[in-house]
Amino acid sequence: MTGSKPKIYVLYYSTYGHVHTVAQAITKGLLKSNTVDAELYQIPETLPPDVLEKMHAAPKSTVPVITPEKLAEADGFLLGFPTRFGVAPAQVKAFFDATGQLWSSGAFVGKPAGLFFATGSQHGGQETTAFSFLSHFTHHGIIYVPLGYASPLMFDNDSVIGGSAWGAGTVAGPDGSLQPSQKDLEIAELQGENFAKVAVKLSSDPAVGDDAAAAAAAAVPDAAAAPDAPAPAPIAAVPAGTAATEPVKNSTTGAPAAAPAPAPAPAAAETPKKSGRLGNFFAKLKKSFGSSS
Ligand SMILES: Cc1cc2nc3c(=O)[nH]c(=O)nc-3n(C[C@H](O)[C@H](O)[C@H](O)COP(=O)(O)O)c2cc1C
Repeated sequence: MTGSKPKIYVLYYSTYGHVHTVAQAITKGLLKSNTVDAELYQIPETLPPDVLEKMHAAPKSTVPVITPEKLAEADGFLLGFPTRFGVAPAQVKAFFDATGQLWSSGAFVGKPAGLFFATGSQHGGQETTAFSFLSHFTHHGIIYVPLGYASPLMFDNDSVIGGSAWGAGTVAGPDGSLQPSQKDLEIAELQGENFAKVAVKLSSDPAVGDDAAAAAAAAVPDAAAAPDAPAPAPIAAVPAGTAATEPVKNSTTGAPAAAPAPAPAPAAAETPKKSGRLGNFFAKLKKSFGSSS
């Protein structure tokens, strides 16, 4: 947090504009609180223009496009996207797959984040979309802030309402012809207001936020010293039966690794830097897999 108010980013991906409208209502709620600074961003498109044209996608808004590095400046964020087969769209996955370097420096540790959505149909998977996305938050050490049943509107069964305890939302209809209702937007605004309260509380606690990220960065000396280097492979555990003599630490938190199951090492692990804690880890990992190199 640089100023007196926590900086909260609202970032979204939207093909047809529904999530964009919900994002605007959430931003309004954040600003209404007058306790946080709020900025609206869109996630980069990954589909080529001709494919978007075939999908009858709406023209892109003029909202600035965010980068992972820019997101790391925020003290917390609210992230919205439409459902694709009950999970997040590839555009959002691609954006988070580009945050490996930030993961290794603990840039998001202890920061709060919330989710919001759109689906084509009423039971098209808003909740599965949220649930299946939580792994990203967990690995980054991000604190997920659900909406809960914050509004009586969420018990309103008289009309189709988007959103749930997982976050605000809207139902676009099978052809996208529905627009976010007044009730959807009220719920979204409330999510912004409530999220601001949580962000203010967390940012005033020195145990989370900036201090936690600094501690995590210090636990990964290679990553902190070489910001342009490729992100190291995630360290899940030491396989059972290895010759490791010192406990392997989780590279983000510095805590001892808990899970015993070996994870398949991504390509980056094949050419590890042979220095520091990570270098030691990779050396042991290679030894345990019987590599002679
Ligand atoms: C490839 C694809 C998969 C989709 N999968 C689902 C789905 O599983 N459930 C659902 O209700 N809607 C699904 N939809 C509809 C989108 O969720 C809907 O178009 C979107 O919520 C509209 O939001 P937007 O205007 O912000 O893009 C899908 C759309 C596409 C293009």
